[in-house]
Amino acid sequence: MTKPISGFSKLTKEEKINWVTENYTQNADQSKKILQGYWNQNQRIQQLHDEFIENTITNFYIPQGIAPNFLINDTLYAIPMAIEESSVIAAASKTAKFWLKRGGFKAEILGTEKVGQVHFIFKGDNKTLNSFFTYLKPLLFAESASLTTSMEKRGGGISDIILKDKTDKLKHYFQLHVTFQTKDAMGANFINSCLEQFAATLKKEAASFNGFSKQEKDVEILMSILSNYVPNCTVRAEVSCPVEDLKLSAKLTPEHTAEKIIQAIKIAQVEPYRAVTHNKGIMNGVDAVVLATGNDFRAVEAGVHAYACRNGRYSSLTSAEIENGIFKFWIELPLALGTVGGLTNLHPLVKLNLEILQRPSTEELMQIIAVAGLAQNFAAVSSLVTTGIQKGHMKMHLLNILNQLCANETEKATLVEHFKTNPVTHHGVEIQLNMIRK
Ligand code: MEV
Repeated sequence: MTKPISGFSKLTKEEKINWVTENYTQNADQSKKILQGYWNQNQRIQQLHDEFIENTITNFYIPQGIAPNFLINDTLYAIPMAIEESSVIAAASKTAKFWLKRGGFKAEILGTEKVGQVHFIFKGDNKTLNSFFTYLKPLLFAESASLTTSMEKRGGGISDIILKDKTDKLKHYFQLHVTFQTKDAMGANFINSCLEQFAATLKKEAASFNGFSKQEKDVEILMSILSNYVPNCTVRAEVSCPVEDLKLSAKLTPEHTAEKIIQAIKIAQVEPYRAVTHNKGIMNGVDAVVLATGNDFRAVEAGVHAYACRNGRYSSLTSAEIENGIFKFWIELPLALGTVGGLTNLHPLVKLNLEILQRPSTEELMQIIAVAGLAQNFAAVSSLVTTGIQKGHMKMHLLNILNQLCANETEKATLVEHFKTNPVTHHGVEIQLNMIRK
């Protein structure tokens, strides 16, 4: 068995690769070649990637594609998407084209408020804590002034600080619940720095507050951290068209298609098993753009799914209705993003993707990403209620299967042609490939 290692982070990259391949892989030479095969030939870019994280040994590639023809608030976008799932970009492109002819997508920002909390334990009288907080609040603003000046110059800063009594949930548990505006920055560092300063001020001022007993003076700070739950940092995107435009299948009338789509959404609103998959399809579009623009997809995922449960049951993020013969389809979701700072200033591809998106403000990026999610959901639900998804999905998956079976270019071309009129299955592709090879 491999022995534990200490000081791994101090080894050189080569030493790290030697250690991991020699101790954990069957063929160290071959494994090293795989890892090196993903190094960037440009030394400067490789060094940049090496320094993003600790213990870098290689880069993990995900394909990036472009979904063109997205008309959003009358601007035409080509959206960069980083994703490994075969059918996502094809679905986005098809949906963008469909809605392009019907006025495109309309999107609006509902709010941009971010949240952070100082969680603390106070063993004492609630009323005294309230009067302490009245005294403390201006000091919290004053002592964090050096941290907030430049954010304030950009139009952001701390919106409010409130004291929350959580003792009904957990004995002696209180919070400073703080709301922020962070303009075009995601703002995680700004928020966390402010919170740590608030915690220090809270601790210091409590220790010398005359109105507190000895025990009350000993406020215990547990942690200071932003929240990825941002129910007031939300965006809404919408499409609409006359019902008769929904000619999506030869077998269904547009009216029947519209009704089936609405019914499918109602199911996702009441049935969590379906809602999770429904929302996963939305996140196919959302995450692909979040990733391509250097944003934190784990934060977005966590926030979105919490939002999907905000009424006590996990539910659909999209809605649909027919009103006066008009089919309306919309999404509302929370997105804490940034278009300055973090990876957006460092990663050359992220910078380029933001340029392709016409250097959006964070609010514009929220709108673009909400649209990518809505488009994905429209594509998924409309094919689920008409042809089913497997036909299109397996067509897109065909090249993956052919690559797995090491088909050469001529074999690929022949089989792509063959499967235009035959159902794709892994076994079927294997049989056809063997037939050509014979
Ligand atoms: C697959 O990645 C996404 C779908 O399952 C979404 C959905 O069912 O709505 C097709």
